Amino acid sequence: MNEPIETPPAEPAPPGLMVIFGAGGDLTRRKLIPALYYLTRDGLLSDRFAIIGVDHVEGNDDSFRARLDDALPAFIGEDFSPDLWAHMRQRIFYLEGDFLEDDAFTRLARRLEEIGRQRDIPDNHLYYMATPPRFFGEIASRLHRAGLTAETEGHWRRIVVEKPFGQDLQSARVLNNTLHDAFEERQIYRIDHYLGKETVQNILMYRLANSTVEPIWNYRYIDHVQITVAETVGVENRAGYYDRAGALRDMLPNHLLALMSVVAMEPANALDGEAVRDEQAKILRIVQPIEPQQVLTQVVRGQYAAGRTADGTHVPAYRSEPGVDPESPTETFVALKLMIDSWRWAGVPFYLRTGKRMPVRYTEIAIQFKHAPNMLFKDSFVKRENIPPNVLILRIQPNEGIGMCFNTKVPSPVPQLSPVQMDFSYADYFGQAPTTGYETLIYDALCGDPTLFKRADTIEAGWALVEPILDVWSALPPRDFGNYPAGTWGPPEADALMHDEGRSWRKC
Ligand code: BG6
Repeated sequence: MNEPIETPPAEPAPPGLMVIFGAGGDLTRRKLIPALYYLTRDGLLSDRFAIIGVDHVEGNDDSFRARLDDALPAFIGEDFSPDLWAHMRQRIFYLEGDFLEDDAFTRLARRLEEIGRQRDIPDNHLYYMATPPRFFGEIASRLHRAGLTAETEGHWRRIVVEKPFGQDLQSARVLNNTLHDAFEERQIYRIDHYLGKETVQNILMYRLANSTVEPIWNYRYIDHVQITVAETVGVENRAGYYDRAGALRDMLPNHLLALMSVVAMEPANALDGEAVRDEQAKILRIVQPIEPQQVLTQVVRGQYAAGRTADGTHVPAYRSEPGVDPESPTETFVALKLMIDSWRWAGVPFYLRTGKRMPVRYTEIAIQFKHAPNMLFKDSFVKRENIPPNVLILRIQPNEGIGMCFNTKVPSPVPQLSPVQMDFSYADYFGQAPTTGYETLIYDALCGDPTLFKRADTIEAGWALVEPILDVWSALPPRDFGNYPAGTWGPPEADALMHDEGRSWRKC
């Protein structure tokens, strides 16, 4: 392995107190505390750092720590070190409080002051909203009323807001306004955990640190781009949320558009929050809006019927899952075509798809190049149109890496061509699988780097794009659901979306 290019060593984040609202929930146990554990292990948290979990569940510091004692080893696996955890758990506190009562926030202010004083932690606060979304605005307003959002000289106050950020454009605007009444935009960190994924960040590095890539990253060489987020799981135990949201709201305005904007954005002139996010916002503003009549031809929805997973296990239809309305019109699959109105992407379709109960779990971006002129082969042993085009595959997960499909001669006296793949895999090369993304996002929020977080304008631009689809779908309920058996690649219309244009989805 080559040595990494020399860079200054990463410093621990500045000292401060992190408040997790929704401390009793799944996200805290599964993602946030494990991410904080890894940051502690890697020396990326200050010695003057503490966490206060807030939730309405009865409890105190000891009971909260004990609950984490039980949960953490399972999520950390073989990386779990009892000594490291013993050191970390002393910095974790709990406050029982109702998110809708001002009194909880007065008590929180006292607790923050007390712990800060005892542990010599400066007055820097990171508020993390790990609650159901209906509390985001309520908590922000109460933090404001309790005097916990104003920054004093040299000290910061920041809020991290999880997804879903609204259910449509109107509700996202209302939430943005409520947050802006309590915080300034520069204090607000809206999470899209896809932007924290190592491989997503690498797309920019790959494009801009390699001189061979950028010159061909445009309509002259690229035929189309396909982005797939395929999941094998069904609705799991999230019917309460998912049956109201559906695949479009759950994945498109956030994760899929985040992937698309990282691929499509113009190079920023600096690796800083505003420059990068300005370029991403520009892409979302110049995606051609989908007209109502185009929803019928450019967007496909699906819902899984009963079927089998890859290992042959029989799984029920979406409508038979616990908590799901037996006549639910909610889509679990969506595929669509978007066009970007720019010189760089003139005439290059972006095909996006995501679904639950697909045959394989994978997320990738495939950049398919145009056919080579291949004059050499005319009237020869292989028909020009049979020569597969080059495809660059950016594998986001699992098996994170980058692959390139190209054609080569088969060694033989008889001329013959074969497509082959050149491959780079993170795990093989760097010997470790990338993290979940939360480590980077928490570290960046503590350091005040907003590059990987969504701004108000990108959130609203994402919702504006899906709004016409939501309108048409609610006016025309689906008649053919479940239109794909679990364990398949979605309804046949998703294939037709590409076949009609002489293209096809890559099968993994
Ligand atoms: C979440 C969605 O934001 O992302 C889930 O709400 C989805 O429905 C998940 O399963 C996918 O994330 P990942 O990191 O597992 O690809």
